[in-house]
This record gives sequence, C-alpha cells and structure tokens, in this order.
Amino acid sequence: MRILSGIQPSGALHLGNYFGMMKPAIELQDQGDAYYFIADWHSMTSLTDPAMRRQYSLDVALDFLACGLDPKRTVFFRQSDVPEVAELTWMLSTVTPMGLLERCHSYKDKLAKGLSFNHGLFAYPVLMAADILIYDSNVVPVGRDQKQHVEVTRDIAIKFNEQYGETFVLPEPRIRDEVAVVAGTDGQKMSKSYGNTIEIFGDEKATRKKIMGVVMDSRTPQEPKPDADQNLAVQLLKLVAPVEVARDFEARLRAGGLGYGDLKKALFEHYWDHFAEPRKRRAELVANLDFVHQVLRDGAAKARALAATVLGRAKRNAGLV
Ligand code: ADP
Ligand code: TRP
Repeated sequence: MRILSGIQPSGALHLGNYFGMMKPAIELQDQGDAYYFIADWHSMTSLTDPAMRRQYSLDVALDFLACGLDPKRTVFFRQSDVPEVAELTWMLSTVTPMGLLERCHSYKDKLAKGLSFNHGLFAYPVLMAADILIYDSNVVPVGRDQKQHVEVTRDIAIKFNEQYGETFVLPEPRIRDEVAVVAGTDGQKMSKSYGNTIEIFGDEKATRKKIMGVVMDSRTPQEPKPDADQNLAVQLLKLVAPVEVARDFEARLRAGGLGYGDLKKALFEHYWDHFAEPRKRRAELVANLDFVHQVLRDGAAKARALAATVLGRAKRNAGLV
C-alpha cells in the first residue's frame, strides 16, 4: 500500500494540521510505503513572499520530523524538487472538465470571499491530482476539507484511463472522523487563513494568551452546563490530555462549579506537556539543519525515481513518446 500526503508551507502549522493530517500520516508510516511532501508550489497560490516561503518550508520539515516522521521509513521531500509533477499536471489538465473544478468547495469559498483569482488557484486540484497520481498512491490521509480534492483526483484519473488506457491507480482519502475538523479559538475550523490557530510549536506566552482567549459563553461558573461536550476548550482538551483527565473536566463543567478560566489554564498546561518531547526534538533539529536538508535531498531523489516511472507510463499511453 502506498500512502501519500502533502502540506502547504503557507504559515505556522497548528493543532488542526497536526491532529487532522500529520499525526494520522505519521501513524500510517509503518503500514506501507509512505511519501510525504512539502507542497511549496501549492503555497504560491496564496503566499507571494519568497523569504517566507523558504522559512515556512523549512519549518514544515522541522515540525514534521520533530513530531515523529521517520525519514528512514518514509520518503520526505519538497514538491518542487520533483519537476515531473509539473509535466503531469499539464497532461491531466487536458482531461479535466472545467465544471469539475468549478464545483470544488475551496474554489467556491474563495470566490465568495472575493479573492482575486489567478489560474493557479483555480487549477490547484489538478496539481494536487498530479501529486497523488504520479506516485501510484493508494491512500491519502487528510482532514475533511481535502476530501473533495481527492475525489476530484479520482475523477481525473478515471478520465485519463478512459481516454488513454489503464494508467493511474485510483486513490482514496483516509479521514479520521474524530479529528476531521479541529475547531479554532473562535469555534470555526482552525485554519491559517482565519487567524484562529493554536500553533504546534508556538511561543509559550503568546500561546497561553491565545488559549485564554478561546471563545466561551457568558454563563456563570456555578451554572451546570449540560452541553459541556460542545465546549471548545473541552474539545481541544480531548486532543491533548489523557482521556480520563478530559472526561473529568467535562463532568465538572456539566455539573457546574468549574470556571472557564480554570478550564483554559488546564488546557494550556496539557497542550504544553503534550508537545514537550517534540519541542525538544525540534530544538535539536534546528541545531542540525544539515541533517534536515540532507533528508529532503534524499527524499527528492527517491521520489523523482518513482515519479519518472509513472510519468513515463502516462507519456507512452498518451502517445508523447
Ligand atoms: P489551513 O486551512 O490552515 O491552511 P491546510 O489547508 O494547509 O491548512 O491543511 C493541511 C492539512 O491539514 C490538510 O490535510 C487539512 O485537511 C488538515 N487540516 C487543516 N486544518 C484542519 C482542521 N482544522 N481540522 C482537521 N484537519 C485540518
Ligand atoms: N491541498 C492540500 C492542503 O492544502 C495540500 C496538498 C497538496 C496535498 N497536494 C496534496 C494533500 C496531495 C494530499 C495529497 O492541505
């Protein structure tokens, strides 16, 4: 089984990225042949500062390695180090109906927000399809917001296979229900673009402040809260604290008598402890950047070798060679 996923270097990674995609991806690295990459081409649709792209790309590498991605068991690389992907993107775009892209939620959402649209933003799912198909991927671990893009990838693969004969493996998304959508400090989906994130490796003081700012209602501490399971801080606590601790806080909130401030303090402490080990590993990696660059170079070489094989198959079938 080949497992593949990517993440954009478009900002500091957060708990939504971690629980929705990185942790599931890291846990899958033992169950097959795992390919994980930094989607730097994708980041060009939203981020235009070269220095920031460079910094965020390195940060994604550091974060992923610190969180447990094992470069001995996975192929970890930067998207743009595999130019074959751009070649395949063009080929796929010629079998992609416009309507398929026009129906994508992410496209419609961005359109509704009045973003000025470049072609890259519109064609983004075609690049993502090339990312997935060029490695003969079977399983794609992602958060729920990416499900439709994997379905589009399947549709594109089916079209190409119909047109040019059996070429691509059909991938499927792998989504963990319990973390399909991690909520941010304001209750919406946690996202780099909404300014509501809790970073995985945020600065202590700033993150404490963010966590103390998690949105609550105005009920008094004494009031029993029958909807305690809906409470944002309780939901986040369930991700970072041992189950029995989270259950205990939920029960105290339900019964009444627990103030939101105390709940949030506990959330911060558990969050901080949860990432203590990765934080240490990350600091070690920062002191050894040559290792990180070498991991990405080795990963790119392996990824390119596989990509060239699959691209060759597609070109033969399409009559390009
Ligand atoms: P963002 O919305 O912050 O820009 P990305 O689109 O770069 O995040 O997402 C990277 C990965 O993390 C994707 O697999 C996505 O599904 C997952 N992800 C992002 N935010 C969340 C969230 N709030 N809950 C669950 N998964 C998420
Ligand atoms: N579009 C994904 C996101 O924003 C990132 C991505 C690019 C990706 N190519 C991919 C994810 C291929 C999975 C597979 O999160």
